[in-house]
Amino acid sequence: MTADDDYYSAQMAALGFVPPAQQIETPSRETLEAADRTSRFWSSRHDGELPLGSDAHRRETCRMFHETFNPYRPSVIDWPKLSPDMLKRITALPIWDIAVQTEGKARLRFATYAQTLDDPEMRGAILLNAWEENRHKEVLSKLVQAYGIPLAVEPPYQKPRDAEWSYLVTGFCECIDSFFAFGLFELAHRSGFFPAELVETFEPVVQEECRHILLFANWLAWRRANLPLWRRPFFELRIAAVWAVIAWERLVLARQMNKGDMATEQDSNFTMSSAQSVTAGDVGVLDLLKICLSENDRRFSGYDFRLARPTTVPALARLALFLAKPWSRAKSRKTADPSPSVPELRTEPQDR
Ligand SMILES: [Fe+2]
Ligand SMILES: [Fe+2]
Repeated sequence: MTADDDYYSAQMAALGFVPPAQQIETPSRETLEAADRTSRFWSSRHDGELPLGSDAHRRETCRMFHETFNPYRPSVIDWPKLSPDMLKRITALPIWDIAVQTEGKARLRFATYAQTLDDPEMRGAILLNAWEENRHKEVLSKLVQAYGIPLAVEPPYQKPRDAEWSYLVTGFCECIDSFFAFGLFELAHRSGFFPAELVETFEPVVQEECRHILLFANWLAWRRANLPLWRRPFFELRIAAVWAVIAWERLVLARQMNKGDMATEQDSNFTMSSAQSVTAGDVGVLDLLKICLSENDRRFSGYDFRLARPTTVPALARLALFLAKPWSRAKSRKTADPSPSVPELRTEPQDR
């Protein structure tokens, strides 16, 4: 346990957070499956509409988060034995340092933001979110240990100076990363590039991130609706600034990755470039976007339709697909005409 782990634990305890009970006995397959189902499907018992920002909306959002909590997975891990080839492939993925550090930062940022909230229900939900981020960090740490993946020394995690700003940055980053993780995960599943047991092990982590961004989207709707009118323009400006900062960080990260220089100071744990790492084939950006969109719809489909969903990243993906339609059609025509005289056209940007 590092000093940062101690700091995070002390902060959670100071806020009165009681960690979920540890499951000592190994659960049966049926118990695990039932808990998994519970985490994916949830309907509110509230009759009628749930106007965004209302007390009922806030209460049901927090109830959703608690009632879909999965006490077993991903804490129950049976690391599958990997073939030397597979092990090499996993060790070579350029995500481990960033993934561990992203979870380390997220847990602290969520806990710090929760501290500023007067509403006990929302505070409790965001604290549970922080606890789950810490669980993700532990799962990743165990994975790298199990497969002997070397990790860079973790930098000290700073307590955010502006709790709401950090919460917004981390929340929107999770919306981007989770959207692409949904697609990449499906690609890994389809390609059989990783052993099925490993994909199965991480499936609950990916669904947990889906719950996290569902909570974030509903927190955002609640926060917006409850701000006094005069503060709303400033809040919207903040959100625009957060997106600008995230876009800038992603550009810097892409440049560093191009140079073969891994960034460790970013908020991202999944990138487009991972597409080629999880499949043997050449996956185009447009195909990846289509998979991400359908997986995004599938993963959210089990939760009460009256709750808000993250919309910005899926809308941008749909816009990109719409704008790329002429290129897609040109590509289809080119594929249909095998004439060698047709010049080689690259219709989709190539993933790194
Ligand atoms: Fe996480
Ligand atoms: Fe998360």
